[in-house]
Amino acid sequence: MLTILEKVLDPTTVRRFREALDRADWEDGLRSAGSLAGRVKQNRQLPEDSATARELGQHILRVLGGHPLFMSAALPDRIYPPRFNLYSGGGHYGAHVDNAVMLVGPERRVLRSDLSATLFLCNPADYDGGELTIETSFGAQSVKLAAGDMVLYPSSSLHRVTPVTRGARVCAFFWIQSMVRDDGERTLLFDLDQSIQALTAANAAPEALLPLTGIYHNLLRRWANV
Ligand code: NI
Repeated sequence: MLTILEKVLDPTTVRRFREALDRADWEDGLRSAGSLAGRVKQNRQLPEDSATARELGQHILRVLGGHPLFMSAALPDRIYPPRFNLYSGGGHYGAHVDNAVMLVGPERRVLRSDLSATLFLCNPADYDGGELTIETSFGAQSVKLAAGDMVLYPSSSLHRVTPVTRGARVCAFFWIQSMVRDDGERTLLFDLDQSIQALTAANAAPEALLPLTGIYHNLLRRWANV
């Protein structure tokens, strides 16, 4: 499932992020690529230990913790501290699959990447190219979102970033280990939760909502790994 979350960050916050990122020291993105991905990757990233990356990343995690659509779609167990990348001057990232298992922080805690997230920090009009193209069972989907919007997609999918031929594309990116590892099961739970929310908003009778809510929690109990 591919999920778009609109306005995760408001315009004022995006502006503050961009000002901090403009002042930051960027490094070659090859430093964090595996040998296979390194052959197709050309971009810049903030170092993992950058104070700016840490501060902005924590802000993103705080916002997502109170974001009902994110919680419903991702059912997060653990989240990789957000990182930041910059593509310009033809920068691109060819087709690749993200690493399945990652080590987080100095204590090198293990994280399984179930979902990948890209949070756009530039408006599409400010650069040409830079589409995130994701292979799905319905064919390739191209994603280029407004500043502050975010896409969630299965980490198992083949994806790439097309060359940025004008301007610069700045994004935050990170991975999520979900309580529900299987994308199909997680999608069913998301659809059920969204239906319950819609029925609640439409003032559906509580006696009709109760069994559906029960089914949601009992499926989650069955599928969640905690
Ligand atoms: Ni990737």
